[in-house]
Amino acid sequence: MCGIVGAVAERTVTPILLEGLRRLEYRGYDSAGLAVIAPEGLQRQRAVGKVAQLEKRLETHPLRGMTGIAHTRWATHGAPTEVNAHPHMSGSQLAVVHNGIIENYASLRQRLQATGYTFESQTDTEVIAHLIEKYYQQSGDLFVAVQQAIILLEGAFAIAVVHQAHPEYLVCARKGSPLVLGVGSGESFCASDPLALLQVTDRFIYLQEGDIACLSVTGVEIVDQQGQNVERPMKMWEHGHQAADKQGYKHYMLKEIHEQPKVMQDTLEGRISQTSVLPEILGSQASLILPHVEQVHVIACGTSFHAGMVARYWIEKIAGLPCMVEVASEYRYRDVVVPPNTLFVCISQSGETADTLAALRFARQAGYLATLAICNVPGSSLIRETDLALMTRAGPEIGVASTKAFTTQLIALMLLTLVLRRVRQAASRGQDTCEQRIVSALHALPDKINRVLALDEQIEAYAQSFADKQHALFLGRGTQYPIAMEGALKLKEISYIHAEAYPAGELKHGPLALVDKEMPVVAIAPHDDLLEKLKSNLQEVQARGGQVLVFADGAARVGAEMGLAVLHMPEVIDELAPILYTLPLQLLAYHVAVLKGTDVDQPRNLAKSVTVE
Ligand code: G6P
Repeated sequence: MCGIVGAVAERTVTPILLEGLRRLEYRGYDSAGLAVIAPEGLQRQRAVGKVAQLEKRLETHPLRGMTGIAHTRWATHGAPTEVNAHPHMSGSQLAVVHNGIIENYASLRQRLQATGYTFESQTDTEVIAHLIEKYYQQSGDLFVAVQQAIILLEGAFAIAVVHQAHPEYLVCARKGSPLVLGVGSGESFCASDPLALLQVTDRFIYLQEGDIACLSVTGVEIVDQQGQNVERPMKMWEHGHQAADKQGYKHYMLKEIHEQPKVMQDTLEGRISQTSVLPEILGSQASLILPHVEQVHVIACGTSFHAGMVARYWIEKIAGLPCMVEVASEYRYRDVVVPPNTLFVCISQSGETADTLAALRFARQAGYLATLAICNVPGSSLIRETDLALMTRAGPEIGVASTKAFTTQLIALMLLTLVLRRVRQAASRGQDTCEQRIVSALHALPDKINRVLALDEQIEAYAQSFADKQHALFLGRGTQYPIAMEGALKLKEISYIHAEAYPAGELKHGPLALVDKEMPVVAIAPHDDLLEKLKSNLQEVQARGGQVLVFADGAARVGAEMGLAVLHMPEVIDELAPILYTLPLQLLAYHVAVLKGTDVDQPRNLAKSVTVE
């Protein structure tokens, strides 16, 4: 939620900040703003709407300065108005940008008002500006003032602060929200995501919880939460520079859909042999922990939650372990009973989702055997705070609607399932034909994904019949039920069509009442154990005039038998069908959204990284 970027250089930083904001726009896009220390003093411009609106404003009111901060917002406290847009100032000399949420802002605001500070916005961020200003009055030292102010802040934040009296540096700090420093030659930067800075550097320092940094043209100095000077490792960017652009695709989402064969391959790389999962893919510590696992709890949000739901079927069937899956925002507020020897698994693309992190922090105190993260961002909070980790290697995902992160999560979860199976079967183990079968199918999967991508034109044609509809129903059974949920989520996220997913067997218990010719129904029907039952459910829909679009393989014989619209999918083993069948649903949602003319990469009201509760 919200993206921040800061720069100190020996050239004007406005273009760097603006480009940074464009690349951070996926984090929030209801207003944007920028402040620089110009020769005539601290100058600010803000605009409601996307970064392009701010750019327009800057064309008529240009800002020039060699130190500056900028922000793109996803509103939490206060409507998306110009007055609530960041940077927020205290007086005319100090400006702050903030990503996160200050939970005790109301009491801080009262205290500050009592000492004479006046507030112009409804945001929680403005208290940070005044608080720092208050301490700055006492010491005249911006760094010390930030150190003192953040002690009083409860909640999550990454902030960057500039003061007109100190054009030679900016101060930034993080606790609970991501912040990375970019190291340039004679210039320094900070941002919520390294993507924002790839135009100026490929050297990054990831701040740790509680770190405060001072950025200047001579470099960066970091102090930890105990007030000690610390060195943090510098990392080179490894994903190439194309990660941040569309490479000729019309949208990031489409580019990311098409990247799936490659990133699945990357996620498997070095982790499987021809016939088995390689030992120690979870690190050496795993061999001490995993033999004790008797059950698994999986926690995640959004699309990552759907990956967890698929994993439940796999972990129970393939590894033979009981598995519970829950959304993090529910899990963290109920009285969870943790059976002995339970492994806690959290899944997150960003590794920064507030509810998932809170659930993990609860789990670490709750008597779990160990915690494990499936995550796409190395160095994220989730990775730092779990005992074990299995990285997805999807590369940066920019489209707000998650695609390649999801399918690589499924790959990682299948690897985890096979590791758990192996540990449980260790005593009786000879050749495991199940593992062999799944691993050789994993090798073949990227090719099959390419074959599904080649069905794009057909899917685009089917999308026509959805574009003028208000509602859609997605049906699946078994592992395809969570895939139906993911298909419905994709459609509603980017096309704003109301879509619901049902386990097909549940249809007759209510949703069948909704079915008529205005309600397109999507059915996911690979040739598996539940196919005949699904066919009966589809007959029920057909009998009520519903238009059904079926995704099925040749062996399923759904089309010819039943006279339905069918998209023929390549055959795949049952266990991997959920991964393959995700692709046409992503493409369907994409094409419907394009037909409707919605903002595919930045759908209304949403943000990619939800770092607030
Ligand atoms: C937001 C995004 C979703 C994502 C969810 C969980 O809602 O828009 O695409 O699935 O957060 O994010 P995570 O980074 O934890 O997977």
